[in-house]
Amino acid sequence: MKRLKQITIVLVLSGFIFTQNPYAQNNIVKTKSENSEIVLPPLPYAENELEPYISAQTVMLHYGKHLKGYIDNVNRLVKEISNLEGKDLEIIVKQSEGSLYNNAAQAWNHIFYFDAFSPHAQHLPSGNLEKQINKQWGNFENFKTAFTNTANNLFGSGWVWLIKNKNGTLDIIGESNAGNVLKGNGKPLLGIDIWEHAYYLDYQNRRAEHIDGLWNIIDWSIVDRRYNE
Ligand SMILES: [Fe+2]
Repeated sequence: MKRLKQITIVLVLSGFIFTQNPYAQNNIVKTKSENSEIVLPPLPYAENELEPYISAQTVMLHYGKHLKGYIDNVNRLVKEISNLEGKDLEIIVKQSEGSLYNNAAQAWNHIFYFDAFSPHAQHLPSGNLEKQINKQWGNFENFKTAFTNTANNLFGSGWVWLIKNKNGTLDIIGESNAGNVLKGNGKPLLGIDIWEHAYYLDYQNRRAEHIDGLWNIIDWSIVDRRYNE
């Protein structure tokens, strides 16, 4: 993929370091430092590059404060209340409960979420994923409507997921709070954050407007790859 070939460029803006994302292959298990702590992976774009759909301020807070906070909590809690220290984040999500699960799932969800966006997004699925979407929903517009309706109708905070089942079929799933689908049988392909912190600065209570904007920055080349992996 084009951005994977780009040389790592470091920009120091607002106290954060942005690089081309070495984890852009969605290899979230690599989010560990040499001392086995989970680390905040770099964003695959600058904080202002998702504008006007998500503002730089929202990205700065959402990524630099919320996601970092979840990761810090995982690193603290995994030592205090579990025997999972040193495990991959995905394993911690699958094997934890309570406060550790909530923070680990939120960390995983947010890394996965930020990795699906691009200022140069491919706006439509292709190949096998396109065929499966057309098979189940008739066309991409119908799929978008179904996904959007699930997002807009989710009560309170949570996530909307597109998952691939073991037989290759797709499902749209709404989950409350930190709800992560890794404990189920499906493979996550796309996760959209429905917590108000994801959009309130930019859209206030207009969640539907925020969801509409996201279709401009969801990079379907990434979702395609996740489907085919
Ligand atoms: Fe969030």
